[in-house]
Formats: sequence, structure tokens, C-alpha cells
Amino acid sequence: MSFMQTIAIVNHKGGTGKTTTTVNLAVALAQNNLSVIAIDLDPQGSLSYYLQAVQPYTISEALTGEVPLTKIVVNREGVDILPANQRLADIELAMVNIPQREYLIKQLFERIIGYDFLLVDCSPSLSLLTVNALTAVKKVIIPMQLEVLSLQGLSLILDTVFGIKEQLNPNLQILGILPVMLDKRKKVTSEILEYLKTNIGLPLFSPIHTDVKAIEAPSFGKSILSYAPSSISAQDYRRVAQELLQSCEYHNNS
Ligand SMILES: Nc1ncnc2c1ncn2[C@@H]1O[C@H](COP(=O)(O)OP(=O)(O)OP(=O)(O)O)[C@@H](O)[C@H]1O
Ligand SMILES: [Mg+2]
Repeated sequence: MSFMQTIAIVNHKGGTGKTTTTVNLAVALAQNNLSVIAIDLDPQGSLSYYLQAVQPYTISEALTGEVPLTKIVVNREGVDILPANQRLADIELAMVNIPQREYLIKQLFERIIGYDFLLVDCSPSLSLLTVNALTAVKKVIIPMQLEVLSLQGLSLILDTVFGIKEQLNPNLQILGILPVMLDKRKKVTSEILEYLKTNIGLPLFSPIHTDVKAIEAPSFGKSILSYAPSSISAQDYRRVAQELLQSCEYHNNS
């Protein structure tokens, strides 16, 4: 791949599979011999916890310039991780008073070079950190649970992305919505999936099924792909990684 693909995994709603998606897509891409860095941009530090990448130094020290990136980034399952912890919440508060406050993560990402993919796990809010992420990346994936209230919340995240595209980042593109936690036993999830296919006018990735292996994997500090490689959700994430690769080729060539 000729230049780095930068993708934010974003949804202001909580528990929509952002972290699970960032981790497992990152590992699936790495398994395709691509170089990947996953950025934890959530003061909850879930991505760092998920892959046992909790470290004394985090993205906060990279942002303040206290510690060089090379001393912070750790590799797990073939993916470089830039971890976060709750200090990021204080950094975010301090960011508010800085001129160019929407561009601080973009400036940080300019120092991250040589990867095929950079994935950002965002926090469940439309906070300054999320605005920064959307200003810093070229592409967005929106994981969405197949529930009525998630559908109702979709317009807010879409409005936010289009607002940032207009004001701060003209090249921003929505690669697609990723339906997660599809449960064929619950009729409503299939109905919402059908609704999305016909009414949203945005690309849809293949859905990720509800899978107990997805819940268990982080308690072992492993991606689903290494914890349960033949599970349905591991297969789903590998498929979505292929779709992502095709989609990036398409956007590069168009
Ligand atoms: N395919 C799946 N099947 C079953 N459970 C899942 C699946 N994907 C994620 N989960 C579970 O759903 C919960 C929320 O997932 P996750 O933490 O990835 O969401 P999130 O959007 O990052 O949450 P937050 O908004 O708090 O950052 C977790 O408990 C996770 O284990
Ligand atoms: Mg999360």
C-alpha cells in the first residue's frame, strides 16, 4: 500500500463495539502482512487493557512531549499499540485552552510514519478528543449495534462527521457503517440491518455476529482472532478486513 490509511473507529454511543472492532481489525490487517498501529484515544484505556498493553507511558506523554513515541509504543499480536489511560482526560481538559486545539492529534500523527494502517479507537463522546481524531484521519468506520436507539443516534454521529468534513477536514470520508452484534434469534436485529441496507445511502460492511468468544477474548488479553480463530466473530472480522482493503484500494484509485 502506497501511503498510510488513517481510520477512526467512532460512535458517540457507548458499547457499540468500537474497541472490539479496532483491536480485531488491526490484528486481522496485521495477519495480512500489513504494518498497523492502533491508537487508544479513550481515557478509559480499554484498547490498552484489551491487548495487555497497559504501560507507564501513554499517548498523554507523547502529546506533552515528555516521552518519545519509540519509548511508548508496544507491540501485541503483530500490532503496534499507542496506549492510553485516564491521564488523557486531564490532557483533554488542558487542550481546550490551546490555540489550534482541534489539530493536536493531527500534529501527533504527523510524527507516526511508516505504517500501512493507523486505526484510532475513539471514546463514546463527541468530545474534543473525538473532534481531534476526526480532524486527523482521512477515513471513518462507524460500528453500530442493531437496535432502534442506535439507529436513532446515527444521525447525530453522521451530522458530526459531515460538520467536521465541512469545517476542519475536507478530505474526510465515511468508509462505511459496521453493523455489530447481529443476533439472528432477535428479529429486530435483522430488520434494522435490512433498513440500513435500503435507507442510509452509505456503504455497509458485512455484519459482525453476536458471539460469546468476543466477550471472553479480552479477559484473556487476546484478540478474538488469536483466542478463538475459527469463531464466527473472528471469521466476521477477517471478512471485514478484506472488505476494508478493497474499499481502500477503491478510494485510492477513484
Ligand atoms: N460481536 C460481539 N458479540 C458479543 N459481544 C460483543 C461483541 N462485540 C463486542 N461485544 C461486547 O460488547 C461490549 C462493548 O464492546 P466494546 O467495548 O468494544 O464497545 P465500545 O464501543 O468500545 O465501548 P465504549 O463506548 O465504552 O468505548 C463489550 O462487553 C464487548 O465484549
Ligand atoms: Mg471502547
